[in-house]
Amino acid sequence: MKLRLDLVTLFAGAGAGTDAFAFTAVPSRQQQRRSRRQSSSSSAALGASSYARTRWSPNSPPSSSGGVVAGSSYATIPPPPPTAAAVANYDDVRADLRDMMDNPSWDDGSLAPIFLRLAWHSSGTYDASSGTGGSNGAGMRFAGGAESRDPENAGLHAARAFLEPVKRRHPHVSYSDLWILASYVGLEHTGGPVVPFTPGRVDHVDESYWTRDGMSYGRLPAAEKYCCPHLDDTNAMSSVDPATGTVRGWEGLCAHVRNEVFYRMGFDDREIVALLCGGHVYGRCHPNASGYAGPWVEHPTRFSNEYATDMIEDEWTLVSHGDRWLVGIGAEELLPAPGRRQFVNKVPGKVDGGDGANQMMLLSDMILKWDPTFRVYLEMYAKDEDLLKRDFGAAFKKLTELGCGF
Ligand code: HEM
Repeated sequence: MKLRLDLVTLFAGAGAGTDAFAFTAVPSRQQQRRSRRQSSSSSAALGASSYARTRWSPNSPPSSSGGVVAGSSYATIPPPPPTAAAVANYDDVRADLRDMMDNPSWDDGSLAPIFLRLAWHSSGTYDASSGTGGSNGAGMRFAGGAESRDPENAGLHAARAFLEPVKRRHPHVSYSDLWILASYVGLEHTGGPVVPFTPGRVDHVDESYWTRDGMSYGRLPAAEKYCCPHLDDTNAMSSVDPATGTVRGWEGLCAHVRNEVFYRMGFDDREIVALLCGGHVYGRCHPNASGYAGPWVEHPTRFSNEYATDMIEDEWTLVSHGDRWLVGIGAEELLPAPGRRQFVNKVPGKVDGGDGANQMMLLSDMILKWDPTFRVYLEMYAKDEDLLKRDFGAAFKKLTELGCGF
C-alpha cells in the first residue's frame, strides 16, 4: 500500500512563508518488524495523536493544490524578552515534549532521533577560534536562509515543525532553547543520559549574524568528503582497498571529521567517538534527505552501545545505488540514492539467523574503526555501555552549549 496524504496541516494557524514538507506512508519490512516489536513492548506509549502518522518525504515541492503542509508563520513569532529564561516553566515544556515523543507512525516510532539531530546541527556550526556559530540563535529557522538551505540540514524542517506547537504554547522559551531541550527530553525518554538543561539561549532576530559576526558556510560534516569520487554507481566495491577493507581516501575524510569539524569546535578524539556512538545509535538516514538509507542499529529508538559493538563485530559491505540485489532480498530500505555510497551489514535481513535487521554505516562512521586512535575509544565503548552513556551525556551537553556563553 502506498498512501499520500493530500494535505496535512500539523498545527493551527499555518500560513505562508517557511518550510514546507509532505508526509508519505510507505509501509516497509522495517515498519512491520517495528509493529511486531511494539505490540510486545509495554513502553510504546501513544502520544502526539494530532501529528501525521506517516513516513515523510522532505524534499517534496510546495504546492497549493495538495500534498504538502504549508509552512507556518513560525519564524515570525517575536523573540522572547530578555527575562525569558526566568519566566518560562520548563517543567511544563518538558511534559509537552514527553507527551509528543512517541509517535508510532514517524519513522521507527519516536521523534527523539530527529530532535537529537536538530540539536546537533544547530550546535555543530560552532567555530572556537572566532566564537561564531553554535546553538545560540536558532538561525536554521529562517526559511530560505543559509542554514536552512544547507544540504546537510535537509529534512530538519520536519523537526522544527513538530516543535512549533510547543513554542506556541510556551512563547517565552526561545526556539534555540526549545530545540536543545527537546533533544535532552528525547534522550531521557529513550534510556539515554540525563543531561542537565541550562536555559538562556537567545534567538537571532534575522540573518544579519552572518555578516555582523562573520559566520562562514559549510561547517557541518559531510559523510564522504575527500574520499575518492564514486563514478558510476555500478561497482561500489571498486573503491575499496582489498588489502585493508577501507575505502580509498578515507584518511582525508577522517581529517575532515577530526580537524575541520570536531577539533574546530574544541572536541578531542574521545569526545568525537562518544558523540558518534551515542548519536548514531538513534534514527536513520533518509534517501530523500541526505541520500543515505536506513538505520545504523536494530533498535534505533533507544540508547545503547549497539552502534559500537555492531561496527566492530559485524561484517560490512560497501554498496551504491546500483546494488539492486538489496531490493531482491527485501532490504530496499538500505539502497542509497544515486551518487552515494554506504556500508550495509553483510546479510541484511538475515543477521542473527532470522528476522534480523537491515543496518548501515556511513563512510564517516567507519573511520572510527579504521583510525587507530578512534578505534581505542570505539572498543572501549563497545565493552562498556555505562561509560558511553556518561561520556556521551557530557560531550552532548558541551556540544549543545557551544557559543552560548554559559
Ligand atoms: C561525522 C559526523 C557526522 C556525520 C557525517 C553525520 C551524518 C548524518 C547523516 C548523513 C544522517 C542522515 C540524515 C537523513 O538522511 O535524514 C544523519 C542522521 C543522524 N545523525 Fe548524524 N552525522 C554526524 C554526527 C552526528 C552526531 C555528533 C550526532 C549526535 C550527537 C548525530 C546524530 C544523528 C541522528 C540522531 C540522526 C538520525 C536523524 C533521524 O532519524 O531523523 N550525528 N547523520
